Order: sequence, then C-alpha cells, then structure tokens
Amino acid sequence: MNKIRVKGGRPLTGKVRISGAKNAALVLIAASVLAKGESIIENVPRIQDVEIMLDILRGLGIETGWVAEDAVSIQVPDEVNYHTPYELARKLRASNLLLGSIVGRRGIAEISLPGGCNIGSRPMDLHLKGLQLLGFETTLEHGFIKIRNASPQGNNIYLDFPSVGATENIMMAASVVPGQTIIENAAKEPEIVDLGNYLNAMGARVRGMGTDIIKIEGVSQLKGVRYAVIPDRIEVGTFMTASAITGGKVILENVISTHVQPVIAKLREIGVQIGEKDDCIEVVGHPKIKAADIKTMPYPGFPTDMQSQFMSLLSLADGTSVIVENVFENRFQVADELKRMGANIKVEGHTAVVKGVPRLGGTCVKATDLRAGAALVIAALAAEGETEISQVHHIFRGYENLVQKFTNLGADLQLD
Ligand code: EPZ
Repeated sequence: MNKIRVKGGRPLTGKVRISGAKNAALVLIAASVLAKGESIIENVPRIQDVEIMLDILRGLGIETGWVAEDAVSIQVPDEVNYHTPYELARKLRASNLLLGSIVGRRGIAEISLPGGCNIGSRPMDLHLKGLQLLGFETTLEHGFIKIRNASPQGNNIYLDFPSVGATENIMMAASVVPGQTIIENAAKEPEIVDLGNYLNAMGARVRGMGTDIIKIEGVSQLKGVRYAVIPDRIEVGTFMTASAITGGKVILENVISTHVQPVIAKLREIGVQIGEKDDCIEVVGHPKIKAADIKTMPYPGFPTDMQSQFMSLLSLADGTSVIVENVFENRFQVADELKRMGANIKVEGHTAVVKGVPRLGGTCVKATDLRAGAALVIAALAAEGETEISQVHHIFRGYENLVQKFTNLGADLQLD
C-alpha cells in the first residue's frame, strides 16, 4: 500500500485532534539515553520515524516499547552500546541526534553518518564543531562519525547558523559535561524548548531555551522521568492549510497556538479566518485566497517545513506569490508535481514564483519527501477529479493516521 487516491472538491468540516510533535518526540527519545532507569514519554505519535528511532535504541541494548496508545517506555541499563548500525541510521536522518546523548552517557560514540536526504546535503559540521569545543575528539572513518572523550569540559559555542540538530546535540552532551556551556545563536524552535524542559525534568540545569543564548551547567548524572511531548506545530499548519484550500471549516484540537503564529499570520494575510481559543484553533477557508510572499526562516520565522504546503495553497491564489526557501538548498521538488496538476510555478534557485491558476486538475503524482507528500494531498483535496499520489511511505514517516484524520473531516481518500 504505497498510493493514496483522492477525489477532490469536498470542503473539509469537523474536528481533528493533533498528535504529538515528530521533531520533539525523536529528540526526546534520543535524550532518554542520557539517563539510567526508565523514562516514559507520552503524546508520542505512532509514525515510522519513531519506530525506527526505538529500533535503534534497542540496538544499543535499551528496552523500549509502547505502554499505551501514545506512550513509550524506555528502560536504559547501566551499560549502553555506543555504536549505531548503518542499516538503521541511514533510514532516519534524526539518528544523528544520538551523537549528543551517547557521547554524554559513554564519553565515546560511533554513529553512522545519516547521509543527506533529498531536501539538501545536510552536513554535520556545526554538530562536530560544538562537540569539539566541549573537548571531544571527532573523526570521520568509513562512513561513521567517531567520537572519543579527550577531557570534556563546558565551553562557549557560537553557532554560525541556528541549526536545530546541532543545538540539540550540544544541549544533550553539555548537560552532563563538567562546567558551564553557553550556546550562542542557538535554535529557538519549540522542540528545543521541549528538549530543555525534558532534560531539566531529568535533573539537568539548562536555561534560556527558546532564546538565542542557552546556558547549561553540567551535572554528574540524570534520571529517567515521565514527560509529555508538545503537539506537532507542522501537523497543525498542514491541517490549517488543507482547510483553507478546500474552503472548509475545521477545528483543530490539542494545539499550542503560540507555536504556529508565523503560519496563522500568513493565513490571515491571504484572507483565511482563524479563531484561537484555549488549545483549539478554528480555520474557515475563504472561497478566493489572495497571493502572498513567503520567506522561510529559522523559528520564529515562517517554518521551512510548511513551505511545500503553502506552495499548494498559493497555486490557487488570486495573484502571484514569491516563495524564498532560505533554510534548505533543494526543497522545491513538489513544484514539478504541482505543475502536472496545472499549477503555474517557475523555480529559479532558492526562489519559486507561483502564479495563481483558477483550478488544479487531478492526475498521477509522486511524493518526493515528507512535506512535499503532504503538499500533494492538500492540492489533491482541492483539485477537480481524482489524484493518485504514489511513494506515500514518505508521508507516513511523519503524519500519524493521516488518511483517517482527513476522511473524518469529509475528504474522499483511499489507501491503495
Ligand atoms: C530539523 O532538521 C528538523 N528535523 C527538520 O524537519 C526541519 O526542517 C529543520 O530542523 C529546520 O527547522 C528534526 O527535527 C528531526 P538544521 P535539522 O540543522 O536539525 C544546515 C521535517 O520535515 N546545517 O536546523 O537537520 C542544513 O544543511 C524535517 O520534519 C549545516 O550546514 O535542521 C540546513 O540547510 C525536515 N551544518 C540548515 O542548516 C550543520 O552542521 C538547517 O538545518 C547542521 C545544519
């Protein structure tokens, strides 16, 4: 089953409950390795990437398993392995987040280079620079990052770019390295704040997460705890965009609306009505949305993970939109598939010019990556006729119960 067939033209209506954040759950599962004993992490989405991360932990000698519909138990023994195998690590870019936690726990790590993915080369230079400044020796040998502990010590680290993963790896290692570490130009994403809160719940001393200066006082050891993951702000953005493009009326539940302000602001700019109340957001699509320009930026800018979904939405806008992708070097692949549906998009380097068209037509398209796949579902929901999306395994990596959630909102989706 690797295809989704969508019959378009039906406005979405009803309620959808948002799952836990993929990009928080993955780093919290990695961070659990730092603490002896059991951690129970709640509000974890049952998605492919989480299952692979749990498999990697089992390979380290750690017992993991689901203890409820959305909760995992992670039982970390006194001794954990320090080597992650290529065959698992290559399936999941986020396996690189085990660098910080394994080296924090063992002082030594051998992590298979996760490889790039099709949205960019995704180097690890900022991760390695941070760990070197903490006193770790790092080498690249036969496709593995090998880290030995010289004499780890807290330090000041300035990140040339506010890399989410590099910030996370440095936070995890520094939380158990003696002395004070200051990370300057740190990433400020909500997932960084969630990681800092989880580390502190385990006994770490991390301050300033969510700002661009994070201060960490190393402690000798951490203990397992029970902790709940934040809601997935990109899933929120995805369902808000789907409601907008179909001219529907959808209530999203289990949301932290402050995490999605950049997306809310952009939707309001193009004429979509958004209501915020407690942990819910109501989205009322507008029959004709206006064009708008998008520049993706690190948080709190417009999220790169919402860029493809907005390209679908703006394909039907009244006017011309300019999208600039400032975070990844190759994240416009969905444009070719949207053009097969009748979109008018011109890509030049990091810029895509989207000229709104009156309608999109259903046809055969393929998902090239996780968010491009979500963008194609969104376009298909509004297109005339039927769209068949192949390679949908990309989508199931990061969205829990996607077909069911859209079907419950009145969409006509069939999994083939
Ligand atoms: C995280 O990836 C997310 N993944 C990505 O979500 C998200 O798009 C990205 O942050 C940006 O918000 C997870 O959290 C598992 P980065 P990450 O390091 O940490 C360059 C999704 O769809 N860079 O902030 O890999 C890098 O090449 C995924 O859910 C270096 O040059 O992102 C990229 O151009 C996709 N050197 C930019 O920084 C480094 O050492 C942002 O990367 C590290 C990164």
